Amino acid sequence: MADKQALLQRELAELAGIEPESYQLLPPVTGPQWNYRRKARLAVRLVRRKGGVLAGFREKRGSFVTDMKDCEVLVAPLAALIRPLRALLNGMAAREAIPQIEVAAGESDAGGECSQAAIVLRHMRPLGRDDLQRLSAFAVRWGLQIYLQPGGVDSVRRLYPRSGPERLHYHLPKFGLRLAFHPMDFLQVNAVVNRRAIDLVSELLDLRKHDRLLDLFCGLGNFSLPLATRCEHVTGIENSGEMVARAVENAQANGITNAGFIAADLYRKHPLALPQPPESCNRILLDPPRSGALETIPLIAASGADRVVYVSCNPESLARDARELRRRGFDLKSAGVMDMFPHTLHVESVAMFESARQRAGSLP
Ligand SMILES: C[S@@+](CC[C@H](N)C(=O)[O-])C[C@H]1O[C@@H](n2cnc3c(N)ncnc32)[C@H](O)[C@@H]1O
Repeated sequence: MADKQALLQRELAELAGIEPESYQLLPPVTGPQWNYRRKARLAVRLVRRKGGVLAGFREKRGSFVTDMKDCEVLVAPLAALIRPLRALLNGMAAREAIPQIEVAAGESDAGGECSQAAIVLRHMRPLGRDDLQRLSAFAVRWGLQIYLQPGGVDSVRRLYPRSGPERLHYHLPKFGLRLAFHPMDFLQVNAVVNRRAIDLVSELLDLRKHDRLLDLFCGLGNFSLPLATRCEHVTGIENSGEMVARAVENAQANGITNAGFIAADLYRKHPLALPQPPESCNRILLDPPRSGALETIPLIAASGADRVVYVSCNPESLARDARELRRRGFDLKSAGVMDMFPHTLHVESVAMFESARQRAGSLP
């Protein structure tokens, strides 16, 4: 963790000119060191000299697939599938035409234990009847949902079970929420760190009854919906229509009526058509992909935000954006790392900015 903190602080100093003495370093957000990952993409490869099909993580730098028999990274119900999956794939006629499998786990109750699971099998040629039967029998034996993906992501269809909602769930017990997702959706992969990250973001935003929040890159409402229970209104923006639909579905299923969601590309230059003027929002949260959120800074600057919380999966783009935020009058007040992916070099972090303009305006 010290390495990740040092990297974050170095990027902020070198790329944004923000020295460590000028902001508070937050205690790291941590979680379990092992068996934490509830969603992953596994590569599949037929390697005859290794005795058949390998299904595992792609090795760093290169196209090799780890020869995984057990897994200390995946949550228990997914780790338990690794050996049976290999046996299943080895018995399939189409085994050479299956390049990857996505695995995802959900929770059946608020205890946080993963107990629902789904796999999505990418296949490059049509599957024969025997293969389909094997897959369905595997789904029954292991209590899984199985999806097939013959082409791009839009081609994903469920094979088993034949009816019922195509969803898994996770819980945010502190907020009384149960959120649904499709196995192909973007999902924060570490459930414990995600819950703690939501708590930290909520604390850093310091939401009050009359606050209005803009949640940029909101996904399925992972932050928007719990935060809506702490403020007057949340507007979530996201470019995937599927994810916006999921956020709306999750708001309705949880009886949340003070959150609205808009599908829009936040990287496009033209101004967004928001239902309310951006000046009416006094808090902003953003959680962009790796490339960051430089394009959204004019929107943030035009808003009425006096606090901005930035969740980042790339310290480099965070630092670049922090420099631009500073130029627009938002000073970095605190930052810290979140151990979403222990034992990897991947750095997730969170940073809180305050608007100098608003602070000056609020002085007596
Ligand atoms: C890191 S994820 C965060 C999702 C959500 N905040 C969460 O915690 O689950 C980034 C999200 O940004 C969305 N996204 C990617 N490019 C975008 C764009 N150009 N405009 C708006 N949203 C975008 C993705 O679909 C994804 O849901």
